Amino acid sequence: MRYYRAILFTVLIAVSGTVQAQSGRIPVASDSGMVVSSHYLASEVGMEILRSGGNAVDAAIATAFALAVTLPSAGNIGGGGFLVYHSADGEVTTFNFREKAPLAATETMFLGPDGEVQDNSNHEGPLSVGVPGTVAGLWLAHQRLGTADWATLVEPAVQLAAEGFPSTRAMQWFLEQLAQRSDPLYTATRQAFLKGGTEVFKPGEIWKQPDLAGSLARIRDHGHDGFYQGETARLLSEFMARHGGLITMEDLALYEAEELPPVRGSFGDYDIYSMSPPSSGGVAVLTMLNILEGYDLASLGHNSAQYLHLLTEAMRRAFSDRAEHLGDPNFNPDMPVEHLISKAHADRLRSTIHNEMASESDPERFSSLYLPAESEETTHLSVVDAAGNAVSLTYTLEHSYGSQIVADGTGFLLNNEMGDFNPVPGNTNVSGRIGTPPNLVAPQKRMLSSMTPTIVAKDGKPFIVVGTPGGRTIINTVLQIILNVTVFEMDIAQAVEASRIHHQWLPDITSFESWGISPDTQVLYEAKGHRVRYRTSQGRAHCIMIQGGTLYGAADSRSYDGRAIGF
Ligand code: DON
Repeated sequence: MRYYRAILFTVLIAVSGTVQAQSGRIPVASDSGMVVSSHYLASEVGMEILRSGGNAVDAAIATAFALAVTLPSAGNIGGGGFLVYHSADGEVTTFNFREKAPLAATETMFLGPDGEVQDNSNHEGPLSVGVPGTVAGLWLAHQRLGTADWATLVEPAVQLAAEGFPSTRAMQWFLEQLAQRSDPLYTATRQAFLKGGTEVFKPGEIWKQPDLAGSLARIRDHGHDGFYQGETARLLSEFMARHGGLITMEDLALYEAEELPPVRGSFGDYDIYSMSPPSSGGVAVLTMLNILEGYDLASLGHNSAQYLHLLTEAMRRAFSDRAEHLGDPNFNPDMPVEHLISKAHADRLRSTIHNEMASESDPERFSSLYLPAESEETTHLSVVDAAGNAVSLTYTLEHSYGSQIVADGTGFLLNNEMGDFNPVPGNTNVSGRIGTPPNLVAPQKRMLSSMTPTIVAKDGKPFIVVGTPGGRTIINTVLQIILNVTVFEMDIAQAVEASRIHHQWLPDITSFESWGISPDTQVLYEAKGHRVRYRTSQGRAHCIMIQGGTLYGAADSRSYDGRAIGF
């Protein structure tokens, strides 16, 4: 209760002198600590932890648990993700808490007798759920790097769930379609999200989540085991058994997050630290930066047709590598990561780029390629503390609201991350269906991800903390924000707000944000042989830049309730 009041109080005084909250497109500045996340209450929770002496890891953990309450579309304890850490004095490490396939999973588990995916079962229903990793990841990061008491970090989330908070406009579409669903699989979801299990909360109405408060309280009191053993594990595995899912008590007991070295590269004077596989993001961003290092991009001008051409060609090549080589390293011991991120590889790729003409994306280059359907939902948070330690954390349920399944009595949404595996071994086509070996389903394997939490350092110290949701567009959004700052000298809010593009090798088409690129630029770009389509927006990046000892935070205006808060 004390925390909850404190949170509400700080929200109310957000315009007063001590709290700096972002408004508009000017970065919020602070000397003492900064939290940027997709929900204002979660950013407040993180900032309170910093204010009371917690470090960046503590604040990131508390923010992530708070988002599991206030941002149910992507914030989670039923999903997974990655955390990249860069200390003020140069220690860099990462935590991999990507979901795993259950023990009973098989390479063809989603296929019917005709060899096709049956009933969208990799994206929907109990088989789409991977063994969640978030609690294990936050717990491991805390064990290694946290300083505050664990219970203190989870308690604000318990309070937000128990006491409630104003339902948001962003949730309306989900609540309205949930109210129409009568399938018994979603009974507990309706109980958790609808008034009396039937009625849609309006924006601003206080929404309480008592079952979620119970699950979070068990995590608060028993840490990792409060989720992977005992009541929560029992409720989850019993639900799975009743509904034809695969996750058992054994799957949960076996789940462990892992600490991994980052992938590391350089771009001019900057060091880039990002997530290694099972994320594809770090490798792809480094490949593209290495390619682009060979051009004088600044002289081309931001988002000029020639700049967009070179960006596209770098994207095409990095995404081709991604599809061919990347998957869970624990199952692909020979993945050529060092080769893919080497300058020599980039030199070779760059030599195949024509200055004036688009290349072709050739799906015959190897036997098969799978590009699964992905939604635009996931969430990223960035934190820097007073000492200058930085955390970049991206986690997800995969689709917006994940599988939309809540196991009775638990109150939290389960992911549908199994859809990130290649479901049909050996089947490929240009429209996006396929199955390369590195990312086929296997028991205990992690599915390939695009999440790209990244920290750019200069002179051994964190300079930019960057990340975003957006499925495969994540990788290209992170790339463009880094270029916007390091090449085009934008401040962090300009870098986040600037319009961005996406190309992923196949399908061979570039997406522009519909408001973002001028028609005459598009004409010049298309004249080189590129094809364009529009999307409403790309990503919701939440970033921090550190300059001259001052922290600058920017929450993406593409995000509904995001907020950068410093003090
Ligand atoms: O891990 C991945 O790459 C995806 N499951 C992320 C999904 C996503 O970002 C959806 N939208 N933002």
